[in-house]
Amino acid sequence: MATARVVEYSKEQRTYYLPPHRRAVLHPHAGEKVVHMPEFMRLLAGLVTNVADCFRQEGPEGVPYSAYTGFQDWQLELRTWEFNTDLVANFVPTVTGLKERLESGIRVNDAACGRGIPTLFLAQHFPNSKFVGTDIDLESVQWAAKESKERGLVNATFQVQDLAKLPADWSDSFDYVLVWDAVHDLADPEGALREIFRTVKPGGQFSMVDIRGHAELADNIDNLAATMMYGVSLLHCTPVSLCFGGRGLGVMWGQELAVSMLQEAKFTNIRVLDVPNIPGNLHFLCDKP
Ligand SMILES: C[S@@+](CC[C@H](N)C(=O)[O-])C[C@H]1O[C@@H](n2cnc3c(N)ncnc32)[C@H](O)[C@@H]1O
Repeated sequence: MATARVVEYSKEQRTYYLPPHRRAVLHPHAGEKVVHMPEFMRLLAGLVTNVADCFRQEGPEGVPYSAYTGFQDWQLELRTWEFNTDLVANFVPTVTGLKERLESGIRVNDAACGRGIPTLFLAQHFPNSKFVGTDIDLESVQWAAKESKERGLVNATFQVQDLAKLPADWSDSFDYVLVWDAVHDLADPEGALREIFRTVKPGGQFSMVDIRGHAELADNIDNLAATMMYGVSLLHCTPVSLCFGGRGLGVMWGQELAVSMLQEAKFTNIRVLDVPNIPGNLHFLCDKP
């Protein structure tokens, strides 16, 4: 910590000093978003051997989600902290008219929702709207359903669904679909985007929030977060997708590829927006004509 210049070390006094402006980096409940990343790195470090095995000719294709013990708990803590005030106060207003529509009552799918934190926050703030949180992971869905019940929410339900194979009778069902940090993880992201398009109502909208990056490596060299994100990609996002025989896009798939895949799926008016207070994310907001 001293050689990394996080902690200051005095040779003369043989003391260590952590200046106040750096304390947040080490404190789990302090105000800096970066505090959650060391814990993620610790979690991923335990999977290095599993990932290394995938590089052997006769090794497995990828690493299953189930091997990442603690991942959903970690993500839960991160999202709870990130969304506590930001989602309703700062993110929702970036989609023109969304707050008003949520207030009057619309149908929303928070897809690949994990522990469903966006749904839980939004359902609480917008009681006239109906929310469905979907994810392929049964344990996450069960957790979210229990949490929703404990919070007394009657307008949020959760169910197991593969985003690439949504129910046939969900065509034109949702006014708004949100996918937060998940499309790059999917085995079949093209299929998932086609399914999202099918299930959004004509005139509805889709928000895909994903990691900020470019498709071309050279364009990421000056991105200070890129080193960490390529590591996260190698140790988590790529192997979980490849494990299903999937596309293995990885977290640094890049905004150019993301936009072209959204176009392929027939979305229109694709806007690439910043996410307030989360500089590592981009928000791809699109319409279904
Ligand atoms: C990085 S997590 C993001 C979770 C949540 N959106 C969040 O931001 O906290 C990716 C999620 O995608 C889910 N997932 C992976 N493949 C899926 C699929 N085919 N259909 C639905 N969900 C899937 C995983 O179970 C996991 O919860």
